[in-house]
Amino acid sequence: MTNFSQKDFGEQILRPAWIEINLNAVAENVRHIKKYLGKTRLLAVVKADGYGLGAVETVEVISENGADCLGVVMLDEAVELRRAGIKTPVLNMGTILPSQAQYVIEYDLEQIVFRPEMARLLSQQAKNKNRSAKIHIKIDTGMSRYGVHYSEAIDTIIKIASMPNLKIVGAMTHFPRSDALDKSFALLQIVRMKKIRKELESRGIQIPVWHLANSGATLDLPDSFFDMVRVGLMNYGYFPSEEVRRPFPLKPAMSVRAQIVNIKHIKRGDTVGYGRRFIAEKDEIIAILPMGYADGYSRKLSRIGEVLIRGRRVPIIGGLCMDAFFLKITDFPDIQEGDTATLMGIDGGEEISPHDIAGLTGSVSYEVISNFGKRMPRVYIRDNKIIKIKNYQLGSLEI
Ligand SMILES: Cc1ncc(COP(=O)(O)O)c(C=O)c1O
Repeated sequence: MTNFSQKDFGEQILRPAWIEINLNAVAENVRHIKKYLGKTRLLAVVKADGYGLGAVETVEVISENGADCLGVVMLDEAVELRRAGIKTPVLNMGTILPSQAQYVIEYDLEQIVFRPEMARLLSQQAKNKNRSAKIHIKIDTGMSRYGVHYSEAIDTIIKIASMPNLKIVGAMTHFPRSDALDKSFALLQIVRMKKIRKELESRGIQIPVWHLANSGATLDLPDSFFDMVRVGLMNYGYFPSEEVRRPFPLKPAMSVRAQIVNIKHIKRGDTVGYGRRFIAEKDEIIAILPMGYADGYSRKLSRIGEVLIRGRRVPIIGGLCMDAFFLKITDFPDIQEGDTATLMGIDGGEEISPHDIAGLTGSVSYEVISNFGKRMPRVYIRDNKIIKIKNYQLGSLEI
């Protein structure tokens, strides 16, 4: 049986469906990563509200356990951290509009730059405020997302390096395929970055912090470490794929739970859900969970997904609705209304991981965890106690 039910949350969470975040697990994961990295610095990627687990709440633990820097992908995310009083260096790894350069200075952020025009705007803004803008040059070595193409990197960096009130504190690239068995392209990207670094050094340009690695490269490509790695998913307890090495253990930090709100005895020939996708061939017992695809639980799990109740795997039947779905519990006569189901996480000896869900829905674990919506309240647990409830609809409560 799982620990919590709606009555533990009182008026803070009225719907019997929630996400538990185990902050001790986050702390342990970060400690393992830090120990494994040795002297290499750690930038913790906390974009997308900490991959769905809560940026502000998890950053506290991540910073306590040794992250040197935080990574986000938009100004709003960076500003959220600053407004929450977080002082750790924050790198915005996404691009900004020309009119937004002022915020980088105002909120003391570090910003990726890959065009001289953007560097010039940051330089001007910093100069106006008598400050220095800290930038990381983003080099595109094969992702074709943000970044100056590696063949033009030297010229661009030379132009930017001469601008006043600008400090190039970092240089980075990103791997599109570091968590696959075949590392040949990632290795080529490392060679491209090494060449650029060497060429810059020969021209007297020293950039202090070079960083390439995401979770996959952190596990499998120590040659990509340079000065710092950027780890997101692993902080939250998940390896990026089945194909990577696992040199240290990780503890999943996110559990998704809902309570059975209704049990029904249906008759042979009765149908279940939209589209009548389940037709009972005999009398059956079904249970209804009050959570659906509008909560980020994929509709593709209709008829093929499972949940855990009382440590056993229970099948989903019929089509998932926006706010509810159906289980067939005929074979589990002990299951009762009010029982807590685990949609993702551990119950007894069983586990449903984001990888399991992604395997069924044709997705990736990243999407599974970051997709749980804002209708799902987050319950933060430390040392087996609830320390905070974040309910996006009703407001938060520090406990
Ligand atoms: C630029 C950049 N660096 C690092 C990461 C972290 O990746 P991971 O979650 O695989 O560690 C991401 C996430 O996708 C990213 O966009």
